[in-house]
Amino acid sequence: MNPDKFRDSPSGSLVPTVYDQWAFVPNPLPPPLNMNRIMSEVDRASRAMGELKGKSDRISNPYHLINPLQQREALSSSSIEGTYTTPSQLLLFDAGHEKATRQTAETREVHNYVRALEYGLKRMDEIPISSRFIGELHAILLEGVARHRGASIIPGEFKKNQNFIGSVSRGIAHARFIPAPPDLTPQLMGDLEKFIHSQEARRLPPVVFNALVHYHFEAIHPFPDGNGRLGRLLVPLLLRAHDVMPAPLLYISPFIERHKDEYNDLMLEVSRRGAWEEWVCFFARAIERSARDAMEKIDKIAALREDFIQQVRQARASALLGELVDLVFERLVISVPEASGRLEVTYPAAKKNVEKLVRLGILKPINLGGRPKRFVCHRLFHIIFETEFSNG
Ligand SMILES: Nc1ncnc2c1ncn2[C@@H]1O[C@H](COP(=O)(O)OP(=O)(O)OP(=O)(O)O)[C@@H](O)[C@H]1O
Ligand SMILES: [Mg+2]
Repeated sequence: MNPDKFRDSPSGSLVPTVYDQWAFVPNPLPPPLNMNRIMSEVDRASRAMGELKGKSDRISNPYHLINPLQQREALSSSSIEGTYTTPSQLLLFDAGHEKATRQTAETREVHNYVRALEYGLKRMDEIPISSRFIGELHAILLEGVARHRGASIIPGEFKKNQNFIGSVSRGIAHARFIPAPPDLTPQLMGDLEKFIHSQEARRLPPVVFNALVHYHFEAIHPFPDGNGRLGRLLVPLLLRAHDVMPAPLLYISPFIERHKDEYNDLMLEVSRRGAWEEWVCFFARAIERSARDAMEKIDKIAALREDFIQQVRQARASALLGELVDLVFERLVISVPEASGRLEVTYPAAKKNVEKLVRLGILKPINLGGRPKRFVCHRLFHIIFETEFSNG
């Protein structure tokens, strides 16, 4: 990292670190912001979030939509950091069909992302969003996968060695960015935690608050690995904490994945020259586009559900079949034992109903071999992931 590019930065200062390098230590939040330059983007994002919240308040059970949207978020957020699996593989893994999944290590990591999200959404009702809280999420994110990334990673623990953003093979001397040194990390994270819970933060528009926290977390880069994903994972949690989006339906990683270079470059520019307004505007666009995208998906999913419910009605099926349709929307991939467990009916009754959905064309068996047999809803899969289900 060329220290000259950061020397006059208004957003932080340089401190010497290992190998004669300089690390960047961000100033405490909030920075001075020129509100005029961000107002219109921030307003647009706030309005879109308001509309999404309104929509989620009107749908009978937004929680049916959450799992698939979280899977999509996990796939994108992991792909930004170079961990790839397909939606189909993730769903099969999630359904417990671990053996059928290729790239098991990567799929597990993406699956962990979903688990960390789910855990965070529950856990935030018990403890404040804090270093401890984030450490718990980190432990889940890297559970069972830390080994292949190097022995120095202890899930949940802050970095013990200086990390950097750049090519590992080219080394720290060629880093794009060297975040805070390990000895300053606990203090910086403590300050970030205080800011998150401060009155000052509450007074900021939630979009701005999230943009600031995301940059700051990434600039500290508190863990040896998983910083990008954890930072993005915090977004829906912080939106929920501030009651902006109580139902976690807004995920920004698919947008960021499509604008990855701009995302990384703008954070670098904040550190180099305090380009806060550009960063906040980008982040606001991410929020706005993601909220609109979520609304489109919700409408399509609602229409599909209505269509299925009509079909089920016309087939004069029992109420149970309607419940099964809901389970399909929640899980996308189901099996008879799962249906029997969730609907609290016998195996033969569950089987009969699953077969009815197959006859109606709502579900299709997945040709995997092995037991139990799995079934997928292709039309729903396509709406969520914008690709076809494939188990090949
Ligand atoms: N100049 C920068 N300043 C601060 N943060 C940055 C900068 N450039 C990229 N980032 C953030 O760092 C992430 C990538 O850094 P790195 O590869 O070190 O992450 P990581 O700790 O391996 O996390 P993950 O495994 O989730 O990607 C990006 O996704 C982005 O969020
Ligand atoms: Mg990584």
